[in-house]
Amino acid sequence: MRLTQEQREILKGSKGETMAKVMKTLVMYGDTFGADKLVPITSEYNHLVTSFGLKMMTPVFDLMQRLIDDGAVSGQKFTVDPRPMDKAVPANLLQKMIFKFFMYSKQGDYEEQLKKLGLLGDSAFTCACYLDQVGNRPKQGDILSWAESSAEVYANSVLGARCNRNSGIMDIMGSIAGFVPYFGLLTDEGRKAKWIIKVQTTKQPEAQLLGSAIGMKVMEDVPYITGMKKWLGTELTDAVCAYLKDFGAATASNGAVGLYHMEELTPEAKEQGAALIQENCKVYVIDDAELERVKKNYPIMWKRKNRKPELCFVGCPHMSLQQLKNWTLRVERGLQDAGRKKVCIPTVFTAAPGVIRAFSDTEYAQRLEATGVILSYICPLMYMNNPLCGSMRVITSSNKLRTYTSARYYTEDEILTKITKGGKAK
Ligand code: F3S
Repeated sequence: MRLTQEQREILKGSKGETMAKVMKTLVMYGDTFGADKLVPITSEYNHLVTSFGLKMMTPVFDLMQRLIDDGAVSGQKFTVDPRPMDKAVPANLLQKMIFKFFMYSKQGDYEEQLKKLGLLGDSAFTCACYLDQVGNRPKQGDILSWAESSAEVYANSVLGARCNRNSGIMDIMGSIAGFVPYFGLLTDEGRKAKWIIKVQTTKQPEAQLLGSAIGMKVMEDVPYITGMKKWLGTELTDAVCAYLKDFGAATASNGAVGLYHMEELTPEAKEQGAALIQENCKVYVIDDAELERVKKNYPIMWKRKNRKPELCFVGCPHMSLQQLKNWTLRVERGLQDAGRKKVCIPTVFTAAPGVIRAFSDTEYAQRLEATGVILSYICPLMYMNNPLCGSMRVITSSNKLRTYTSARYYTEDEILTKITKGGKAK
């Protein structure tokens, strides 16, 4: 790898032994992927994936402390993934004890470390850090050192920033050094599509189901998606961005997509069009039957498959303000149709602390509360990491949550029916 004079000096120890190790880690990481140089990070803020003080992560806490003690901290402030616990989310006494004393017992200490490393404040805990109410929104062309897959695919695809699918800890290393290895999605060549996806459905496809189908087919390749103009148009409105947020999270978790282009919609597809497609690329046609096939093949991990769900999560990735308002109206209407006042399955909507604050200033907040839906800043995946919660019958409209846990996936309309009208899982 060709290093600049400054980078070579840091590697030799000009900024101390710990900083030299940080640089060495980045060089080794880059070498592994054939990078020929390190390039400067240009975003204003970073985003970290490790938000949780999981007891077994002692080496991470030790590493963080070493970085802090040796002054190897980044000038770059950061947001971080959602907190793993929230008293508002239903849990029995035993589950709460396991969270507090066995799983996330280091949460307080870890958050103190994050503050010393540059946490943007108490509101910084969310995976949807690019929303207006959070403010960590990179510009087109910015070079990032992020690792949260749902945020990274959004930044690359919808914002036109450049970021590889880094692992946790590598995100911190890049941010501290101020450089990342130049390879993959940072390069023009790496951003070219190896797949054309032809969407030929008769109605707007469910974002998280379409993302799942594409992710499972293309895995880590870049897809160029056509056929969505009639459903999404050509402008990145709030509603379209929310759709792309959920869609992208499913491509990134059901496969390993770090970047997608959507014809006439996402910034690079608008600028470069079909020039983004590599020669001899593969083609995947998605119609109604294909989406149905994908959905039917999801494994059902519940022990008692036909029993009533015990909990419902909506908002993975975290919901936007507009999504919260829309869901409030949908739940109200659903309950009215069913002749009920409250949801019949304990239901948690999750959103960033800043979005929750903005939502509480609207008339919708009391209306949602009246339906019995709980609003939380938690990460549902962290909640289900607790073995006692993981064995619960959880339903969700998140294909990311389905992939990593035993939660059962339903489309948004199906979720609405279940929480407002009840009934067993089918
Ligand atoms: Fe966000 Fe946690 Fe889901 S980080 S995407 S709410 S798994």
